[in-house]
Amino acid sequence: MAITDRSDRDAEIIGREGVDDLEAILSVSNTDVDEAIHTVADNADAIFTWDYEKGARPALNKLYEKAKHSQWNGQTDLDWSIDVDQEKFAAMISEMRRAGMAEMGIDLKGTPFETWNDKEWTQLSMETQNWSLSQFMHGEQGALLCTAKIVETVPWIDAKYYAATQVMDEARHVEVFAQYLDTKLSGHYPINAHLKMLLDDIINDSRWDMTYLGMQVMVEGLALAAFGMAMQTTPDPLLKQLLRYVMSDEARHVAFGVLSLKEFYAGLSEPELLERQEFAFEAAVRMRDRFLQQEVWDRMGVDVKKAIKLFDQPDEVKNQDPFQQLLFSKIVPNCKKLGLLDANDGWLRKRFDSLGVTQFEDWVDTGEEYELLDAVTQDREAAAETA
Ligand SMILES: [Fe+2]
Ligand SMILES: [Fe+2]
Repeated sequence: MAITDRSDRDAEIIGREGVDDLEAILSVSNTDVDEAIHTVADNADAIFTWDYEKGARPALNKLYEKAKHSQWNGQTDLDWSIDVDQEKFAAMISEMRRAGMAEMGIDLKGTPFETWNDKEWTQLSMETQNWSLSQFMHGEQGALLCTAKIVETVPWIDAKYYAATQVMDEARHVEVFAQYLDTKLSGHYPINAHLKMLLDDIINDSRWDMTYLGMQVMVEGLALAAFGMAMQTTPDPLLKQLLRYVMSDEARHVAFGVLSLKEFYAGLSEPELLERQEFAFEAAVRMRDRFLQQEVWDRMGVDVKKAIKLFDQPDEVKNQDPFQQLLFSKIVPNCKKLGLLDANDGWLRKRFDSLGVTQFEDWVDTGEEYELLDAVTQDREAAAETA
């Protein structure tokens, strides 16, 4: 029997009544910013399989072979000798941002920004970059832990093999983001509280497919879109190349999630699918809450509510913010391909409607996109041609 509506459970799923309740979003903050380690129970059984037939799942086997071929080395394949002038780039970006705000007719009168000079705007851009890359780094560590868990918990040998390559990929991603932050930028941020809650929930869940759904489909789907946008906009050639290589791995990771879950979800009942839909909704809301970057406003000494007020647009405009929307451009088609958008009378479709992101449903899903994004192979072939 299909469960038609459980909208009354929204508060239970996301911890508040309305998705846009600003007070509730801001009341969640990272209370232990000085902690050196963070412990989460992972609640899962480690599974051996005695079925060693390689290639029983041809799509996963192909992905595994591809992953072995497209490994790269963060120390030797990136040019760390490039000198990065963060302040200069931040000034350029803040100028563009202010021009954009002027174009949208945003009036700074009576706001904390009224008296800001170039230096403060540049500082905001630098802090935003420090914050974003710090969150990328923390998210990458989440991926490292999640894929190590998948190696243990997934029952299929082809998936264990593939996940093992992803563990290596994620180690490299944490490594290069940490190195970029340490040597090229001007400060770290602790993990954002909303991101932390999400990573904790993913790791805490005992069901192996939930690790995939939370990490490979939701977190990595968003990361793939966010890295793509950062790669387009950064004027720094080192960061551009770093992101290009990371994305080439991430596209495989998202494909891994979609290919594995497609098979597993085909055998689930509607009530079981509803639990997955709820989890996807919770993850989407947590990721969206993070966009407020409340820690940056704190560090800039600006009342976060006043800062956000400035960008507070009526819903119909806010839901057309192309930047926020695009972050969901990989997630929504992948959820559709997995049958999550429309199960239980479109439960998740309605929730994605309330977040203003359903329009991406027919964009390309990521099951095959990794072939196009294989930057490592492209560069090797180009180098072989010129040699
Ligand atoms: Fe990664
Ligand atoms: Fe990844």
